Amino acid sequence: MTAPVIAVDGPAAAGKGTLARRLAAELGLPYLDTGLLYRATGRRVLDAAGDPRDPATAAAAARSLSPADLQRSDLRGPEADRAASAVAAIPEVRAALLDWQRAFGRTHGAVLDGRDIGTVVFPEAPVKLFVTASTEARAARRWRELLGRGVAAELATVATEMAARDAQDSARAVAPLRPAEDAVVLDTTELDAEAAFAAALALVRERL
Ligand code: C5P
Repeated sequence: MTAPVIAVDGPAAAGKGTLARRLAAELGLPYLDTGLLYRATGRRVLDAAGDPRDPATAAAAARSLSPADLQRSDLRGPEADRAASAVAAIPEVRAALLDWQRAFGRTHGAVLDGRDIGTVVFPEAPVKLFVTASTEARAARRWRELLGRGVAAELATVATEMAARDAQDSARAVAPLRPAEDAVVLDTTELDAEAAFAAALALVRERL
């Protein structure tokens, strides 16, 4: 059997990153947080005082990403969230990042989390999870995460900005956020990280 690819997609703060990282560790597979590619692209555009909505600027930033860009400490937070979602709506940016993501998973298998892994990047993946949760639960999680990192934030503002980003990610013409037809939807509203992991692992074992 060729090395498996496991696709973990879903909206912001649904718990997909934690879940994907744990699955990768459990299965001995490499892990890629594909959101970092869009975040780093957005950050490079902001550094150059450019507009993240401008296709030429954003595509140039995506093409010149280096591994060091993915290690930056300023890829999270409201400004980085907005810039990532803006560059992610640009087809040239997505095209520039596609081969890179495919190459990452193709040889040794991988767990990738993002928005379009099961629909576009690896439509043939044998396991596809779509991890979601209610908007309230996701906003509360993101808010607690920000407070935990010492970032002052209002819950209502976090909720509004998250809803706007999800709306933009879902409405864009290219690779919109949606479950693949053969994805299993995992709703983590009532599940803690442990229970979500157990459910996901059971599914993976069934499919591989
Ligand atoms: O997953 P994360 O919240 O870090 O992703 C940041 C942004 O990057 C998302 O809001 C989305 O616009 C974009 N993204 C994407 N496709 C992916 C991963 C992330 O469009 N596979």
